[in-house]
Amino acid sequence: MKIIFNDSVIDNKIVEPDYESEFNSAKENGFETEIFSFEEIEDGNINNALKFIKTCEKIELGIYRGWMMTPKIYEQFYNGLLKKNIQLINNPTEYKHCHYLPESYDKIIKETPKSNWTKDISKNSILELSSEFGDKPIIVKDYVKSEKHNWNDACFIPNASDKNKVLEIVNRFIELRGDYLNEGFVFREFIELEFLTEHSKSKMPLTKEFRIIFLNKKVVQIFNYWDEGNYDSEKPDIDFFQNIAENIESNFFTMDVAKKKNGGWIIMELGDGQVAGLPDNANRNKYYNELNKNCVEHRV
Ligand SMILES: Nc1ncnc2c1ncn2[C@@H]1O[C@H](COP(=O)(O)OP(=O)(O)O)[C@@H](O)[C@H]1O
Ligand SMILES: [Mg+2]
Repeated sequence: MKIIFNDSVIDNKIVEPDYESEFNSAKENGFETEIFSFEEIEDGNINNALKFIKTCEKIELGIYRGWMMTPKIYEQFYNGLLKKNIQLINNPTEYKHCHYLPESYDKIIKETPKSNWTKDISKNSILELSSEFGDKPIIVKDYVKSEKHNWNDACFIPNASDKNKVLEIVNRFIELRGDYLNEGFVFREFIELEFLTEHSKSKMPLTKEFRIIFLNKKVVQIFNYWDEGNYDSEKPDIDFFQNIAENIESNFFTMDVAKKKNGGWIIMELGDGQVAGLPDNANRNKYYNELNKNCVEHRV
């Protein structure tokens, strides 16, 4: 099993510094590692991007760890690696399934806030979608990311029927996302969650959330989602979320779950496991050790 990492922007022979500790932990825990150029792949130079990756004699499984890619770029990456006999754990369809919220929404619909979405960012379409939420509070994000650290300016809308406010927040959101806007925007009903603290820098409200990582449909690890705030010992009901995970069309993904203020849990979002960040609190060595155990188990 190979783990394929982003290179550093300044030196294409070394790993991107943000992933250095993961790179070392992967090696220490029995994985082979490879490095490719993220910049080259984004520029469409797939052969150059993968030039330091050795071709395997026979097909081997790979996991990517690095920055998020659009599904289009991921497909080029996936196919380029296949030519070198490396098959990434998720094919392009599986990658997109957890990367874009609309793709997997039906699978989590009962446990996640009511959501709608569009690729049309005109005023009419913004107001048409927001009106479906009556006068409830909502949040806006794109198919992948929110502007959560600009909570009051570009994420949280206190009342969906306040048209001026809806337009103000969505326009600010679109402006801040700029070229990084993924596909379109999504509105979601805001759910009151158990409050932990305010983020020390952005002041966004941090609530009791966890990131559960599933590999081959089995839990690898559960992390506190935030690095700030006092989590008590309470953890989400893993069996419950494990059952939902069975229906998710991906071999490696994250499920972020949050505790509601009045009890009960919701699924906040899914993400592809290859591009999901580990919280700072995550012990990298333990994580790669668990990943390896899971891989060994599933190879038999
Ligand atoms: N529907 C919601 N109800 C309550 N809080 C929400 C809701 N959606 C997002 N949040 C808060 O905003 C944060 C970011 O939202 P998320 O969908 O995870 O976007 P991102 O991909 O940017 O992390 C969540 O971790 C949560 O704290
Ligand atoms: Mg999130």
